[in-house]
Amino acid sequence: MDKTLQIKNYPVNSWLSSADVYKAGITFEYVMEKYGFKREDILRLAGNESTIGTSPKAVAAASEACKSSNFYDEPQSEELISLLEAKFAEEIDMSQLAITVGNGMDRVIEQCLNLFTQRGDSIINFSPSFVFYDFAASRLGLKIFDLGRDENFYPNLNDIETKINDYQAESNSEIKIIFLCTPNNPTGTITDIEEIENLAKICEQKNIILFVDHAYIEFTDRNKYDARNIINKYPNMIIGYTFSKAYGLAGYRVGYGLMHKELQNTYLKYNTPFLCAKPSLKAAKAALEDTEHFNLIIENNNSEKPKLSKALEELGFKVSPSEANFLLVDTANSRYHNSEELLEDMLSKGIILRKAHSISDTAMRITIGTVAENQRLIEALAIQT
Ligand SMILES: Cc1ncc(COP(=O)(O)O)c(C=O)c1O
Repeated sequence: MDKTLQIKNYPVNSWLSSADVYKAGITFEYVMEKYGFKREDILRLAGNESTIGTSPKAVAAASEACKSSNFYDEPQSEELISLLEAKFAEEIDMSQLAITVGNGMDRVIEQCLNLFTQRGDSIINFSPSFVFYDFAASRLGLKIFDLGRDENFYPNLNDIETKINDYQAESNSEIKIIFLCTPNNPTGTITDIEEIENLAKICEQKNIILFVDHAYIEFTDRNKYDARNIINKYPNMIIGYTFSKAYGLAGYRVGYGLMHKELQNTYLKYNTPFLCAKPSLKAAKAALEDTEHFNLIIENNNSEKPKLSKALEELGFKVSPSEANFLLVDTANSRYHNSEELLEDMLSKGIILRKAHSISDTAMRITIGTVAENQRLIEALAIQT
């Protein structure tokens, strides 16, 4: 078939020619095929997922929902939203706030981009950070103004107002959304609430949306760090949360956004009806109610993090402080020259890790596993092959 003719016949947006397909981390299937491991013998510490597993109550709720999934569920996931709003109302005043659900926080991010931007506009990020912001923005033909982070991976927030003014004047492009990930993926860095508040004030003056990504907030002190404690003052703020990490539901694909009610009305106009699968919504509801399982995941993380961190340091890795469920390590003084070497060695032992190549070729991100899993990792790292 004539390929030129084929491509010519599609009215593809021109800026997509340079876009890439999203590349996820190494899969179980890859390790099974390449290294001959059985699936149950592979340890995946690559995706910041919970290795403790899904709440059995969530699994039961999803299975039950499968039986009636010949019918659509509620168009805007109302039942889950009510439960989430009630949970938030235990902590903050929800009278002016609302929640929207998406299939994964990714979808909430994407929907905000669709809602507030048009081709040629810009977003701000603080890299190294979650790569999806740039990915999703690029495919909409948006520009990215990267303010970066300092040597401790703290976002560069100084003089931000001047930087925004200069950028907008020079690029002739309007900044519409700032993405601030805290705790940040892949560094684990937390941003002080006072800094978030300063940024929110600037965003309000400049009519910019501040999207605070709280994918890992459940692993921290929420009273201290959760932007939900200040959102009532800032109508331009949206906070993204997910069931993928602390609730152990990554594969179910449920995330949500907290925003002001007046904004939710517009947001819902863009919502695809029946966005989340019915079994996923029921699983999320059950997981939210299963506090015992949730606490298990959090407690495991909090008790294992310092132990794993210390063991990795003893093996010569430089470990960055983390407020999340993963550690960023540098192979600096270890026996590995770079993260590729470390990745390959671990893969040959049935352990999947994730290179943090957006930082350097010696940076590696390691999800914190259970006691036994972390022990297996440390033993594997200690074996010279
Ligand atoms: C910082 C951050 N935000 C958002 C997401 C996406 O979450 P979800 O699985 O809900 O789409 C991830 C997933 O890894 C993440 O690390």
